Amino acid sequence: MAARKPFADSDTADEAVRATCDDATICKRFASSKGYWKDPYIQYFVRSVGERKAPEINRGYYARVHGVNHLLDAFIRKTECHCQIINLGAGLDTTFWRLKDINLMPRKFFEVDFPTVVARKIHNIKLPTLLLSECVLVYMTCLQSSNLVHWAAETFHTAMFISYEQVNMSDRFSQVMVENLQRRHCTLAGLEACQSLDSQKERFLKTGWEHADALDMMTIYNMLPQDDVARIERLEFLDEKELLQQLLQHYSICWATKDKLNLGLSQLAF
Ligand SMILES: C[S@@+](CC[C@H](N)C(=O)[O-])C[C@H]1O[C@@H](n2cnc3c(N)ncnc32)[C@H](O)[C@@H]1O
Repeated sequence: MAARKPFADSDTADEAVRATCDDATICKRFASSKGYWKDPYIQYFVRSVGERKAPEINRGYYARVHGVNHLLDAFIRKTECHCQIINLGAGLDTTFWRLKDINLMPRKFFEVDFPTVVARKIHNIKLPTLLLSECVLVYMTCLQSSNLVHWAAETFHTAMFISYEQVNMSDRFSQVMVENLQRRHCTLAGLEACQSLDSQKERFLKTGWEHADALDMMTIYNMLPQDDVARIERLEFLDEKELLQQLLQHYSICWATKDKLNLGLSQLAF
């Protein structure tokens, strides 16, 4: 028991140090909301403006922020941005975005802090994410692909997943496709999710995605800009139009969205 005590103490001390990043950000958030300086990014780290802070605190932060920024910007200008910045104990500081906005980006910008503080910051700055898989999920079992898209739904709050792969895989045409691939020792382990447009969508709707849609490639082909379709159709003579049709009916694009930022991602369509 005695041997554990110093560890417990240092854990508590570390926690208290980590918590100071909230103190700093809360104070900066309040002062910037009062108009001491502009910081459009700090709201992403501290949602509400919080309790009023005394004027001397706000002025102290004003002097701190302007003083540090003055020297920082002067250094970057002097080096014409051919420099790097290492922000030790960066906490939830928003300098990176301020520099980006004023076109004063150094070559490299590092932030160092405790892993938990860095992880929190990363979580807050996750910007919309697009995940793309073209002919990939079908090579996994349905359980594996479901786990994958579930992980994506859990990890990214504002995201879109685009998946291109087989669909309508229960007829003779698809059987031939599967046999051809099997001859090459290639198994489509996730065929079950490729039975229909609905089964494609279900994989997403059952795993935390808010919205999902799917179209077969024949439909999409007909929705593409028809002047360009006419152009590519003139490139080569196609004898068997039915074959193309069959082929396109057996592939699809399924897309799913999650939209915590309310960007209107569910309206994205063809
Ligand atoms: C008062 S906050 C200041 C945050 C930021 N620099 C600002 O002005 O908004 C101090 C920061 O230093 C970090 N820190 C202190 N000691 C550290 C250490 N040994 N290793 C990594 N980070 C440390 C804390 O986790 C915290 O985020």
